[in-house]
Amino acid sequence: MRKKIVAGNWKMNCDLSQTEYLLSQIKQQKLSSNTTVIVSPPFTNLYNTFESLKETAITVAAQNMHQAANGAYTGEISAAMLKSIGVNTVIIGHSERRAYFGETNELLSQKVTTALEANMTIIFCFGEELDDRRANDHFNLVKQQLQEGLFHVSKNSWDQIILAYEPVWAIGTGETASPEQAQEMHAFIRNTIAENYSQSIADGVSILYGGSVKPSNAAEIFEKPDVDGGLIGGASLNAEDFAAIVNAF
Ligand code: PGA
Repeated sequence: MRKKIVAGNWKMNCDLSQTEYLLSQIKQQKLSSNTTVIVSPPFTNLYNTFESLKETAITVAAQNMHQAANGAYTGEISAAMLKSIGVNTVIIGHSERRAYFGETNELLSQKVTTALEANMTIIFCFGEELDDRRANDHFNLVKQQLQEGLFHVSKNSWDQIILAYEPVWAIGTGETASPEQAQEMHAFIRNTIAENYSQSIADGVSILYGGSVKPSNAAEIFEKPDVDGGLIGGASLNAEDFAAIVNAF
């Protein structure tokens, strides 16, 4: 059975005291033990978040990492640095990284390779923009993102990969893909993995949906057969909302 996962992407929110407050609130929530829970604070709060949550079942993920092992890359963070503070999971390819920081499929494929070499778990994000959907090109676009960014990985690496389909037009906009639209794309993604790898790999990978998931819509999205959870932005900054989404299966 593939895992149910809810991951909170805090993005560039929460300074130190806000992080401590949010963590204390999260620790007061009752979180279903059937769901793998991940939180992803900014780099400056990864270490204290890891320390704060290490007695809990919650996993801490970084929002990004550099593709090189180390070196003269001012301002960047390596996989080894993350691992040295206990962080073994990283989000790669978020649409905001693609849109605002020029991250291409080619670059993301290098980050994927580096993360896997470091034995990290990857939450690999992808998804079409509104123009792609209007042009009915969303399936092609998603397939291309997977082929160019991810499908160089070996069969053995798939147990370290979580997918997050996030239609860009639904991120932070209040606009959600309908549960049917999410299911249609998730089934397509699973099928594409089966074609490129195997049915058992496709059946084993968790595919999260992301884009304006809230307590009010999580259950209807998560009940779709190919939706295995969510990558949550805005609603993950409120502990009660986040817990309600974790418990929405
Ligand atoms: P949102 O963000 O839930 O605020 O739409 C999702 C994401 O970008 O991961």
